[in-house]
Amino acid sequence: MSKLIYILNGPNLNLLGKREPEIYGSATLADVETSCAVLATEIGLRTRFLQSNAEHQLVDWIHEAREDASGIIINPAAFTHTSVAVLDALKMFDGPVIEVHISNVHQRESFRDHSYVSHRSDGVIVGLGIHGYELALRHMAKVA
Ligand code: DQA
Repeated sequence: MSKLIYILNGPNLNLLGKREPEIYGSATLADVETSCAVLATEIGLRTRFLQSNAEHQLVDWIHEAREDASGIIINPAAFTHTSVAVLDALKMFDGPVIEVHISNVHQRESFRDHSYVSHRSDGVIVGLGIHGYELALRHMAKVA
């Protein structure tokens, strides 16, 4: 059975495509999900692609990932900059964790420079648009 990778998305990413398209582009989260699923099949992985606006839901999914996932790709969105709870949950996950940001957070407001999640992430992909998710998956194929 191929390895399962969780791809978790935080608040407001359900509106990807409509939300500040000059920053985040015109692709929707459904487009990202499809391209990840297609690539995963090609490279011998399975994906579980999830989004929530609620911090506790992301924490619960990270707990679930402890049982059945080989790796986590996470775009924690605004929780990147605020959530010790998401960080603590990720610290209990043993496999590789890759953090993805669609925009280049370091070119934006200074509060986006700090990521709680990066304290646990094995790698961070920033500013490459939705292509960042595919790059993260390709890396997972090597390390998960
Ligand atoms: C984001 C960057 C965050 O600062 C922001 O709060 C988001 C999206 C990104 O993908 O570029 O919601 O994680």
